[in-house]
Formats: sequence, C-alpha cells, structure tokens
Amino acid sequence: MFTGLIDCSILKRAQDKGLVEIHIHNLRDYTTNKHRNVDDYPFGGEAGMVIQIEPIDNAITSLKQQRMYDEVIYTSPDGEVFNQKIANQMSSYENIIILCGHYKGIDYRVREHLITREISIGDYVLTGGELAAAVMADAVVRLIPGAIGDEQSALSDSFQDNLLAPPVYTRPAEYKGWRVPDILLSGHQANIDEWKLQQAMERTERLRPDLLENKD
Ligand code: ADE
Repeated sequence: MFTGLIDCSILKRAQDKGLVEIHIHNLRDYTTNKHRNVDDYPFGGEAGMVIQIEPIDNAITSLKQQRMYDEVIYTSPDGEVFNQKIANQMSSYENIIILCGHYKGIDYRVREHLITREISIGDYVLTGGELAAAVMADAVVRLIPGAIGDEQSALSDSFQDNLLAPPVYTRPAEYKGWRVPDILLSGHQANIDEWKLQQAMERTERLRPDLLENKD
C-alpha cells in the first residue's frame, strides 16, 4: 500500500528530483526464525497477536548503523496529534524513521525504549500506520524547498500562520453571473494583500476559531 502512495504525487516528484529518499523496510526481513514470523501471543492471555520487539529492534539498530536519525516515530491513535507545526519541524530533519503501528499492537517495550515520538493523524482508528505515515510524508516533503513548483505557495498554505488560506479565483472573471471579487481585478497589490489577510482572518474566526487561540 505504501509503495503505491510514495510512487505518485509529490512524493514521487521529490524523490525523482533527488530532494528526498524514502525507503520501505519489511520487518520480516529482520526476523531470525525460519518462518519469518514477526508476531506472537500476548502475555497475560488477551486475544490476538502482538508484534515482537526483536525484529523491530533489529530493523532500527541496522538503520541506525547506516546513518543518524533525528527521530524514531511511532504512528498511533494515542500519540500527539500531527499538525503543520510538527510538519515544519520535521521538514528540517535529515533522517526520520517511521514505525507504522499495527492493529495487533506492538510489544510495549518498543515504545518505552526505542521510540522518540508517537504521532496520531487524528482522533479515529486506522487499521495500520501506513496511511498515517504517508500523510506525514506528504505534509513534510512538500515543505522541502523545490518539492512543489512554486516555493511561495507552501508558505501561503492554510495553517502556516495558524490561519486558513484566503480564497483563490481564476478566469473567467464572471461565470454564470458569479463574479470574482472586484478587489482582485483592481491591480492594486497592497489592497489585494490586505484583502487576503482579512479573508484569512475572517475564515479562520468563522471555521476554525480554535486556531486563533493556539497562535504562538
Ligand atoms: N494507527 C491507527 N490509527 C492511527 C491514527 N489515527 N494516527 C496514526 N496512526 C494510527
């Protein structure tokens, strides 16, 4: 699933341009048993299986021997909720490991000893962490200079100043009687910038007032 996601869109473009490398590792490749099993029964007799610490530790140790990592992230609904601020911070990192969570659960010692940060992409439960990892990768990679066509546009994204982005329009200036705001056609850049800021403020107050409370 993840391979499909990283081989298209922004993630593909950024990799092709040499701006980022994304490597996928299968825990089975780090097992030592003949069947390449990565899970086992839980202590204490709960239902279901649990991913063992050994293949995870082997994988992380092997990767750390090749390069330094800024963060070893675990995707989980009980983590810190991912947002633009975290994406900005991660975009300045050299290397990140993302360990995808799994519905079976992983041996908790991994989280106690090997993980540096746990991240959720929202208050709902996914079947595995792959989609969460892809969401984070997209949000982080697009911030790397050169990854998206117009570098200015990442800076004017919604959330970059804890403000939603203002509306945008293109030609025709009138369609079925629906007109583009006159100010945008005025050619007066200072007034246009002022209008955009007002729109961003108004939309944020109306749609996401919580963002204004969290402004730092
Ligand atoms: N794994 C399952 N649900 C998740 C979520 N909401 N965020 C990150 N990882 C998850």
